[in-house]
Amino acid sequence: MVKICCIGAGYVGGPTMAVIALKCPEIEVAVVDISVSRITAWNSDVLPIYEPGLDEVVKKCRGKNLFFSTDVEKLVSEADIVFVSVNTPTKTQGLGAGKAADLTYWESAARMIADVSKSNKIVVEKSTVPVKTAEAIEKILNHNSKGIDFQILSNPEFLAEGTAIQDLFNPDRVLIGGRETPEGQKAIEALRDVYANWVPADRIICTNLWSAELSKLAANAFLAQRISSVNAMSALCEATGADVSQVSHAVGKDTRIGPKFLNASVGFGGSCFQKDILNLVYICECNGLPEVANYWKQVIKINDYQKTRFVNRIVSSMFNTVSGKKIAILGFAFKKDTGDTRETPAIDVCKGLLGDKALLSIYDPQVNEEQIQRDLAMKKFDWDHPVHLQPMSPTSIKQVNVVWDTYAATKDAHGVCILTEWDEFKTLDYQRIYDNMRKPAFIFDGRNIVDEAKLREIGFIVYSIGKPLDQWLKDMPAVA
Ligand code: UDX
Ligand code: ADP
Repeated sequence: MVKICCIGAGYVGGPTMAVIALKCPEIEVAVVDISVSRITAWNSDVLPIYEPGLDEVVKKCRGKNLFFSTDVEKLVSEADIVFVSVNTPTKTQGLGAGKAADLTYWESAARMIADVSKSNKIVVEKSTVPVKTAEAIEKILNHNSKGIDFQILSNPEFLAEGTAIQDLFNPDRVLIGGRETPEGQKAIEALRDVYANWVPADRIICTNLWSAELSKLAANAFLAQRISSVNAMSALCEATGADVSQVSHAVGKDTRIGPKFLNASVGFGGSCFQKDILNLVYICECNGLPEVANYWKQVIKINDYQKTRFVNRIVSSMFNTVSGKKIAILGFAFKKDTGDTRETPAIDVCKGLLGDKALLSIYDPQVNEEQIQRDLAMKKFDWDHPVHLQPMSPTSIKQVNVVWDTYAATKDAHGVCILTEWDEFKTLDYQRIYDNMRKPAFIFDGRNIVDEAKLREIGFIVYSIGKPLDQWLKDMPAVA
């Protein structure tokens, strides 16, 4: 029986291993983590991450061929294939600070694998890492190998949160990169056999190590670039009276461009896009390609511009001050159907409003108060460390109130900001919300999900990203 062990029971490791266990009953899958609370949660009825469909998969396999444990060393030593899916934060200090990946956790995992191994192993890079990480890991493993053969593969994950299970069941492609030696090719075959249990052969792409690593960064950079492109257009739409939904519909109809990832928004978030582009930028700089680095940097700059623009729009339309005003924040997660708040645009928008002394009342169906307070207190890039190593958040911010209901959040508010496209925000009783708000009542829709015409009929002043502006907003232009 093939044994797989995955180091890191996070958003990638947990769902990916659960699906491998479900689709490959012949394989024993162990997921290990240094975080006791995370493993306890994976073994309980309340899983540590919210992901539609995940509970069902875990329930079917847990205790049969899927195990969650903190016994990292034992399970790694017994495995034939070791996936590594640990944190890869952006460095905050030293060489490459603010751009390069901090491989501390990866390196310590690699050293541990070398220490405890007694048999040959395939080590699979699963967390997104800078190109040539595999080479560094290979060096650590081989210099400490005691005669054991380690084959390193890059098998980047392309799942998107909120649709992870669907993405894993039916991936567009599975990418496996390995060494072009006979041993490397054999290792690729072994991993290909795992995926071949449910993924059609023509969707399993095998490449060399560097291509696999770079493809992951490139795919995320291209996706993020589409969003920054449409967000850049949204600013121009507001200035000209064009409607960004009409523009992206028309643009996306071109089969060469396609309709996906063209929704204008308050900005992209999530654990991957910014981090991967920063990595890409750093790699370009290190390889003497400043023009290429600057090209990709611009994708992040537009994303930051979009968040700032949103905050400016709110403040300027409310007579240039939100000081002491209650603003309801609907949605804090970086997208719908997840409780994940990593790099969520809500953090920067809330910080911007707090900077102007607003009083925030926040509601998200999946994010709790502790997480929100921690996110708002945390420094940039600190989020991507194992929880027990994250800085403790100081006392909670008093201007922030977290509630468990939209109507409580919006009561007596001057304005409402929609920052996550949760379905429930599309069908709220907006008349009731309006009746209980201060007047003039504002709605700032950062996800373009509300029916603006209906809300205007009720009496709201509505701002939607990239849509023709209300007269009120035209009269109160945002200062850049
Ligand atoms: C992304 C990649 O899609 C996935 O392949 C990779 O493995 C990890 O990074 P994820 O971050 O989970 O996945 O979510 P994604 O659906 O890509 O959304 C990222 C951000 O872009 C979200 O904040 C989302 O709201 C935003 N977005 C997405 C837009 O603003 N507009 C769009 O049209 C699409
Ligand atoms: P991702 O979104 O890439 O899955 P997460 O941050 O959700 O990232 O998960 C990474 C997990 O890896 C965390 O639960 C963390 O505790 C775990 N981890 C980090 N370093 C190690 C290590 N050396 N051994 C075991 N687990 C680790």
